Amino acid sequence: MIPMNFAELDNRSLTNSPHFNLDRISYSWPSGKKALDKCSLDIPGSGLWMIVGSNGSGKTTLFRIISGMLKPDSGQIHCPLKVALMFQNPDHHLLLPTCRSDLAFSLPNNLNLKERRDRINYLLNLVGLEGMASRPIHTLSGGQKQRLSLASALASDAKLLLLDEPTALLDPTSQKKVLNIVQELCHWPGEAITAIWITHRLEELEYCDGAMKMEQGSLGPIQKGHNLTERLNLLAAR
Ligand SMILES: Nc1ncnc2c1ncn2[C@@H]1O[C@H](COP(=O)(O)OP(=O)(O)OP(=O)(O)O)[C@@H](O)[C@H]1O
Ligand SMILES: [Mg+2]
Repeated sequence: MIPMNFAELDNRSLTNSPHFNLDRISYSWPSGKKALDKCSLDIPGSGLWMIVGSNGSGKTTLFRIISGMLKPDSGQIHCPLKVALMFQNPDHHLLLPTCRSDLAFSLPNNLNLKERRDRINYLLNLVGLEGMASRPIHTLSGGQKQRLSLASALASDAKLLLLDEPTALLDPTSQKKVLNIVQELCHWPGEAITAIWITHRLEELEYCDGAMKMEQGSLGPIQKGHNLTERLNLLAAR
């Protein structure tokens, strides 16, 4: 198991939410390329956890393994949480014509009509798209689409959000909006979710409860965001 520097982490992130971990996961693509190499991850509780790493280091493959889209060649996953994925490009995620229909598609099946309508309005409010239920998706800006995509991921009642470079296509204002919403959800009293967020934008690390570096298919220990930023900046300056 990867040793974790818990002393570096802020205690408020160590809540009672179910524990989630990966133990020595390996995965090779059919081409023979080894994308994950004995990759371990031990998430201590709800909160916003970030992963940085160079192109091709295995971050997206890791998300595919956690979400069950791929089966590992070896290793163990313990994930009692319902998972939802959010991608870099919302156009890969939003499939239906309006905000309402896209959210309705992701809602659990056991809700009645009123509950469905209330839930859709609640989700739109949550991501700052109130009153936009009937808006055709193609008329939304990129930042609005990405926030709808987040609402859609949350509609399924997921407790573990996997966000793969969710702000890569956003301007600084939309980037901050998405970061603030996810950060708030990850610390919501009593109902905090767990989010794992892949980024190449080091300034985002200041929002997280802990961050890891992925290198050649394996994750390093969790550390405080600003400590990892400093270490990466030192490496870059060498
Ligand atoms: N569908 C696929 N078929 C074959 N090889 C793949 C496939 N997807 C990814 N790979 C390979 O697996 C390795 C890890 O890729 P992955 O997409 O997980 O990296 P990443 O860390 O997400 O990179 P980036 O920062 O560029 O998104 C790379 O060598 C990549 O070429
Ligand atoms: Mg990727």
